Amino acid sequence: SFLDMEVEQINKGKYEHYMQKEIHEQPESLTTTMRGRLIRGGSSKAKSVLLGGLKDHLKTIRRSRRIVVIGCGTSYNASLAARPILEELSGIPVTMEIASDLLDRQGPVYREDTAVFVSQSGETADTLRALEYALENGALCVGITNTVSSAIARKTDCGVHINAGCEIGVASTKAYTSQIVVMAMLALAIGGDTISSQARRAAVIDGLFQLPSKVKEVLKLDQEMKDLAKLLIAEQSLLMFGRGYNYATALEGALKVKEVALMHSEGILAGEMKHGPLALVDENLPIVVIATRDACFSKQQSVIQQLHARKGRLIVICTKGDAASVCVGGSCRVIEVPQVEDCLQPVINIVPLQLLAYHLTVLRGHNVDQPRNLAKSVTTE
Ligand code: AGP
Repeated sequence: SFLDMEVEQINKGKYEHYMQKEIHEQPESLTTTMRGRLIRGGSSKAKSVLLGGLKDHLKTIRRSRRIVVIGCGTSYNASLAARPILEELSGIPVTMEIASDLLDRQGPVYREDTAVFVSQSGETADTLRALEYALENGALCVGITNTVSSAIARKTDCGVHINAGCEIGVASTKAYTSQIVVMAMLALAIGGDTISSQARRAAVIDGLFQLPSKVKEVLKLDQEMKDLAKLLIAEQSLLMFGRGYNYATALEGALKVKEVALMHSEGILAGEMKHGPLALVDENLPIVVIATRDACFSKQQSVIQQLHARKGRLIVICTKGDAASVCVGGSCRVIEVPQVEDCLQPVINIVPLQLLAYHLTVLRGHNVDQPRNLAKSVTTE
């Protein structure tokens, strides 16, 4: 009705679609996610993190033999993005499970495990079933959800609210970046404040504080990503290569493109390139390579050279100022993004890919907020 249309217009504010609004809202949603939880440090106080919902359980979590993180779709990808920092700061082995796969295998879950359930809606059937399974097996269950009174929030032993604000677009965007931030804070909370980890912890906390302004900066790429979308509008397929902290960025970027733009897209672990995917490379297939500065940078540079050698059509996401050093020996389109502490770089790097998926969808004339065949919350197995 006319009234519904007006209400919708108000909710979307100046934006045409919820997905667009939610992408551009990320500086604010990230701020809300961190509010009251991070201590800046100063003359009397040390930099630290405070997660109220976990404080009575931190001792048990620290004693666990393994942390197993469970989710579906984008929530799984967010967990994968946070896995390296969770392992590094906690010193506990971290394994990842797609909820349906854990259930299909009836994989082992023990009393000595901490099982972390990540879900925007808190109602995803597979994740909920996996939670029931982990509870039956006696694991300590932690929920990370964006919906306060959701089933997963209620049934877990303890948890952290994502606080990203209501997400309406079927494609998850702001929940993804906030989930990574929550898991980085979880890593800080679990990890002890040892002398050897102090500098790294302080750098991660500073990096978290910088995220909202750096996301604001990377959102300025909107027009550039729209121009790129115009070039790619008629493509059949788009590959995305990432590794290390940004393997998850490749998977999540590809999920966004296939889900809303209805274009085949695949996230590939760059370390696996020679084990199969390289055969696909020719002068026609567009390939996004994520090559921002971190310990994997030189390996990614050599991946780019090998893709050049096969005449690959490259789109490289790199750190500001690195255009010349990522694109030696060939031509490629470069997207420069601001740098942040390495483990938080996935929060920055996904933004141009969210924008690309959004513009591709609009240009191809598909439904942005409600892609065919999909539901926001998958409540059946
Ligand atoms: C994300 O863009 C997808 N719509 C989908 O993969 C989603 O992340 C998945 O269904 C999990 O949902 P949840 O976070 O609400 O559990």
